[in-house]
Amino acid sequence: MAEKKSNRGAWNSKLGFILAASGSAIGLGNIVFFSSNAYQYGGGAFYLPYFLALFVLGIPVMILEFGLGSTTGRAFPEALYRTVGKKGEFIGWWALSSALFITMYYVAILGWALGMMFGAFGSLFEAGATAPFPPFSQPTTGPSAITYFFNLITTWWPLLCVLIIWGLNMLILWKGTATIERAVRIFVPLMWLFMIGLIVRGLTLEGGLDGVLYLFTPDIEGIKEPTVWRGAFSQMFFSLSLGLGTMTAYASYLPKDADQVNNSLLVSFMNCGFEYIAGVAIFSLLFVFALNPVGGTLSLSFFAIPQGISAFPWGVRLFGFLFFFLLVIAGLTSSISLIEGPASALIDKLRISRAKALSIIAIPGVIGSVCYTLPQVIDPGLNGNGTLGLSLLDVMDHWAFNYSLLTTGFVTCILVGWVFGAAKMRAIVNEHAKIKLGVWFDILIKFIAPILLGGVIIWNLISEFTGDNIYGGGVDLGAYSWIPYVIPFVWLIGATAGAAYMTFGRSYASPTPAPEAPSTHA
Ligand code: PHE
Repeated sequence: MAEKKSNRGAWNSKLGFILAASGSAIGLGNIVFFSSNAYQYGGGAFYLPYFLALFVLGIPVMILEFGLGSTTGRAFPEALYRTVGKKGEFIGWWALSSALFITMYYVAILGWALGMMFGAFGSLFEAGATAPFPPFSQPTTGPSAITYFFNLITTWWPLLCVLIIWGLNMLILWKGTATIERAVRIFVPLMWLFMIGLIVRGLTLEGGLDGVLYLFTPDIEGIKEPTVWRGAFSQMFFSLSLGLGTMTAYASYLPKDADQVNNSLLVSFMNCGFEYIAGVAIFSLLFVFALNPVGGTLSLSFFAIPQGISAFPWGVRLFGFLFFFLLVIAGLTSSISLIEGPASALIDKLRISRAKALSIIAIPGVIGSVCYTLPQVIDPGLNGNGTLGLSLLDVMDHWAFNYSLLTTGFVTCILVGWVFGAAKMRAIVNEHAKIKLGVWFDILIKFIAPILLGGVIIWNLISEFTGDNIYGGGVDLGAYSWIPYVIPFVWLIGATAGAAYMTFGRSYASPTPAPEAPSTHA
């Protein structure tokens, strides 16, 4: 007989689970990526497709991922193995290997955020910042977040910060659900509190409301742009932590009779609620200070927002600190879940201790995070402007973000929808749900979600090959121009080889009964 579920750990309360799952969902995606996507795609044009994506993709796929976890009591690969066999297990490990690639740069961003957080009480908001390369090599006359940031990333501090963030992740994950629950009980409410503080500050500045109007005024012309839809679907998946095995891992610590419809609604509404609040706070600042976040996704949070905060009439250091502290804790409650996905799967399959599983992930993880932070420290002249690590990160994010989550989502919907049976999964979930899923769930999982996801994936692929260059290939990286060509293979071969080894090189020790649909005469 397989061991009791509680041996793997279990949530102490439903609240603990909801806090952990919403902590996973609410992260850099909600603060950094949502706002820059919404900005890039034109405010009012973005939120309608995004809202639709929540209902047709986000909630149904979350129900599926939660359902897989609580009915099997296992992490993503084994949950899929028990439901649809080896092919399911393979995609499970593939998702988790990709999650590791994402964790590496996610933690690097958190390391920079931690550096900026300390900077708020250091010289971030002081005049005279310089960076060791032009055009930032002249001392500034006022506070300049962008110059401060470029100076910061060329020092050794971010490396230390990255190690601190990895250390904090390990500490929180050390005792599994027990320590995760303790951390999220503190961090998640704090996150909301700080965000509400920022929104009040933003909206009470004169002109703050204009930004909100920009975000919420529907833009019918913009909605006609297909790229907006593509952006909204990818962002929704990332924001809800779907397609990386995270939600299944967390749900595997729930009792079998958990109400997964209710849980999915709670987590996804909390996530999107937070996202809109963050959007309001950030857009109000952008409009008050007429900031124009040019360039990549990071520029909004790392340059534009602190620049806005530096112009506050009072409380500059306090709000600057709060903003980056918010980024750090929101990111931490997400990065732990990115790591817990593979950790729980390794424990399930290899029957190893948690400490061992965490080390197997942390060792390559730290090395990966260092790859994004070290190049500019060794030589700030790399890539002409000390941003080689940033370019690396951008290219890896492009491939892992655009393809791994959506592909996993697509394959999971096909396998569970068609092989296991959407109706059977619905019956299992409905058994304990107050709000019952209707046939629409089957239609969404079997047809709509795979068509939408498959469409976006194919379209993404087509756009890769119709441009003049491979993604990132147009940027002048000097002697490192080969990097954008190598990164997609590093990710693809790494994730596929990892998945193949874990799936075919090892087998599960215990017999693995498939979940049964409840009898209709119960
Ligand atoms: N949802 C997280 C965020 O918004 C990122 C994440 C994705 C975490 C997938 C876990 C799994 O930042």
